[in-house]
Amino acid sequence: MKLLITGASGLYGSKLAQLALGKNIEVYSSDIQGLSVYGKCVKLDISGKEQVEEAFKTIKPDVVVHAATLTDVDKCETNKELAWQVNVEGTKNIVDAAKRAGSFLIYISTDYVFSGDKGNYKETDKPNPINYYGLTKLKAEEIVQTQQEYFIARPSVIYGSTPAAGKVNFALWLIETLRKAERVKIVTDQWNTPTLNTNLAEMTLEVIERRLTGIYHTCGATRVSRLEFAMQIADVFGLDKGLIDKVSSSQFTWPAKRPMDSSLDTSQVQKTLKKKPLEMAQALKQLKLELSQKGT
Ligand SMILES: NC(=O)c1ccc[n+]([C@@H]2O[C@H](COP(=O)([O-])OP(=O)(O)OC[C@H]3O[C@@H](n4cnc5c(N)ncnc54)[C@H](OP(=O)(O)O)[C@@H]3O)[C@@H](O)[C@H]2O)c1
Repeated sequence: MKLLITGASGLYGSKLAQLALGKNIEVYSSDIQGLSVYGKCVKLDISGKEQVEEAFKTIKPDVVVHAATLTDVDKCETNKELAWQVNVEGTKNIVDAAKRAGSFLIYISTDYVFSGDKGNYKETDKPNPINYYGLTKLKAEEIVQTQQEYFIARPSVIYGSTPAAGKVNFALWLIETLRKAERVKIVTDQWNTPTLNTNLAEMTLEVIERRLTGIYHTCGATRVSRLEFAMQIADVFGLDKGLIDKVSSSQFTWPAKRPMDSSLDTSQVQKTLKKKPLEMAQALKQLKLELSQKGT
C-alpha cells in the first residue's frame, strides 16, 4: 500500500511516517522543504496545484494523510493570505488530486474549529472558529467533505518526544526549561485535550487499515487546563513545580484569540477504535519512555 503524507516533517507527520514504515507500508513523506527523514522524501508545496497533480501522478497513492498546514496560529492571523493559500487552497489541491487518483483521504483538522465557549465538544457540535487559523481549517474540512470517502481527525495540542519542523512542542519546551531551573508562566484559563503524537499516529494507522470514514475527535482522553498539563508533566519528569507561575491569558497579547475551552469529547473514538485515546497519565508515561530511549 502506498501512503502519501503531507506535512511529514512535522510533529505528527514524522511520527506517522516512522510508525507506518514499521507496518510495511510504502511511505512517501512530503513537506515544503523536502526534509522528511522517514520513507521516500518528496519535496512538495501543497499550494502549487501543478506540483500536487504531478506528485499524485507519479506516486499514485492509495491513501493520503493530509497534515500539511500553516500551524502558527498568530502567523495565520497576521498573514491571512498565506494562511488561506496553504490551509484552504492547498487542501483543495490535495482533495482534487486525491479524487482523480481515487485515493482514500484522511485530513488532520483541529479543536480550534470550535469557539471554546463550552468545551467537551462532540463531533455533532457546530464549529464556530474565533481565529483565522480555525476558520481556514474549517473551510478545509468542508472541502474534504466533497470527497465521497474521507476521514477527518480532530486532535488538540499535539506533543511528542522529538522537535519537528524547526519547533519544540509545549511538553518538550517545559521539560527543557524546568530542567534548566528557569521560571515559566503558564495560563490557568485555557482547556484542551492534549494529544501525544504517537497515540494519534497509531489511531490513524488503524483508520487506514479499516478504511473508516467520518469526523472523529482523535485527541487525548483527558481534559486539562494548560496549568494542569504543565503540573502533570513536572510530576512525571520529577521537575520543580515551584518554578511554574500561574497566569491568566489576559496577561498575554497574542495576535490571534485562543478558544478558552476547546477540549474534545472522545467517546465516539473510544467506541469505534481498538487503539484508544490515551489518558494523560498513560500518555506522559509513554513520552517519558520515548525520551529515555533517545537518551534525553
Ligand atoms: N500542533 C498542534 O498542537 C495541533 C493541534 C491541533 C491540530 N493540529 C493539526 O495537526 C496537523 C499536524 O500539525 P503539526 O503540529 O504536526 O504540524 P507542524 O509540526 O507545524 O508541521 C507542519 C508541516 O506542514 C508542512 N507545510 C507547511 N506549509 C506547507 C506547504 N505550503 N506545503 C507543504 N507542506 C507544508 C511543514 O513543512 P516544512 O517543515 O517543510 O515547512 C511541516 O511538515 C496540522 O493539520 C494541524 O493543523 C496541530
